[in-house]
Amino acid sequence: MRTRLPLGNPGTQFDWTASFGRDGGRVLDLGCGNGFWLVNSGLQRPHLDHLGIELVPPALRTGSLRAGQRGLFHVKFAWGDATEFVVERCPAASVDEVHLYHPQPYYEKNRVVRRQLTPEVLGAIHRVLRPGGVFVFQTDNPAYMTYARLVVQQLFEFKERFEPWDDMPRGRTLREVVARSQGWEIFRAVGTRIELTAHERDARVGLMPAPDFDANKPDWQAGRRG
Ligand SMILES: C[S@@+](CC[C@H](N)C(=O)[O-])C[C@H]1O[C@@H](n2cnc3c(N)ncnc32)[C@H](O)[C@@H]1O
Repeated sequence: MRTRLPLGNPGTQFDWTASFGRDGGRVLDLGCGNGFWLVNSGLQRPHLDHLGIELVPPALRTGSLRAGQRGLFHVKFAWGDATEFVVERCPAASVDEVHLYHPQPYYEKNRVVRRQLTPEVLGAIHRVLRPGGVFVFQTDNPAYMTYARLVVQQLFEFKERFEPWDDMPRGRTLREVVARSQGWEIFRAVGTRIELTAHERDARVGLMPAPDFDANKPDWQAGRRG
């Protein structure tokens, strides 16, 4: 049993059942960092299969080690591009929860294209979720949240949460813990998938603006870069 997974060749569909050796509820964390939340969720919800995707190998290693030390073989980590995974490889209607915690805002204009929350990704999240599935989004960047409010509600019933999560009141992720220690506001929301046909979804996605917002609002936490 392993807590690390290869995603396989680009273009191949991910096989959840073969990868986890069972068929059940599934949780996907896009850019899971060191897996702080994913491991905790796996401890609290052993009936669900958890997959974290992360681009930075040391972070990924920490998560998979933590899961392995606890024998959490239903919590697995894969190195790779979470955007490519959700857009290209994750089968339709195969996941119950998609989580995106503190995606990097990217302040420099030439790096804005790396932002994780885009219309294409949001459409893909809606596609891979099963009926009734949820998309959990969290950031400490007000401009990112303003963009999320604008686009997510096109495909999800988007409900903001103003207090810390009950399962990890001191912070679900490392970034949340760090941001709170600096006194920064945390924006949390749960989106419940609206039932739409693929055609309706694509039409809504086609009308969404690109995430080319200015993450560096002058009235926001002067001097801060995160
Ligand atoms: C600010 S950190 C937040 C990490 C964690 N979610 C948290 O809240 O502590 C953003 C993470 O997303 C990862 N990341 C950014 N773009 C990614 C992508 N396309 N695929 C996978 N991981 C990505 C980064 O490597 C980084 O670990």
